[in-house]
Amino acid sequence: MKAKISLMCLALPAAVSLSYAAPAAENWENSCASCHGAEGKGDTKKGKKLKLRDYSNPKVQVELKDEEMLKAIIEGVTDKGKERMKAFKDEMSEAEAKELVAYVRKLKA
Ligand code: HEC
Repeated sequence: MKAKISLMCLALPAAVSLSYAAPAAENWENSCASCHGAEGKGDTKKGKKLKLRDYSNPKVQVELKDEEMLKAIIEGVTDKGKERMKAFKDEMSEAEAKELVAYVRKLKA
């Protein structure tokens, strides 16, 4: 798993383009892993501070609804008007966001 991720990092500069629909794993690495962690455990510095859920936990997976996840990715998450997670609608298509939901599902241990 580790080796795969570093290979992806090497491939990134070639992949960045406006019209390019990135595969979910790439979007996850670029836009999500800094908070949610490469494996979705929320065990990064930021993730711990934000008290993120552990997506590898099967119980957490049951709690989360697909629509809720899609909405979080597209519209972002705010708490009492304060932004907790930004909206990604300007950076990715709905199809990419849907693929990320599927990606999060696969993070289940
Ligand atoms: C700045 C840190 C940060 C980044 C970057 C980030 N998130 Fe989040 N994410 C959060 C926070 C904070 C929440 C809200 C958690 C809560 O309220 O318990 C959240 C919530 C979610 C949720 C809703 C389920 C839940 O745990 O509440 C999903 C799904 C999600 N994020 C996926 C993503 C994806 C996919 C990306 C990348 C496109 C991403 N996040 C990028 C911080 C981040």
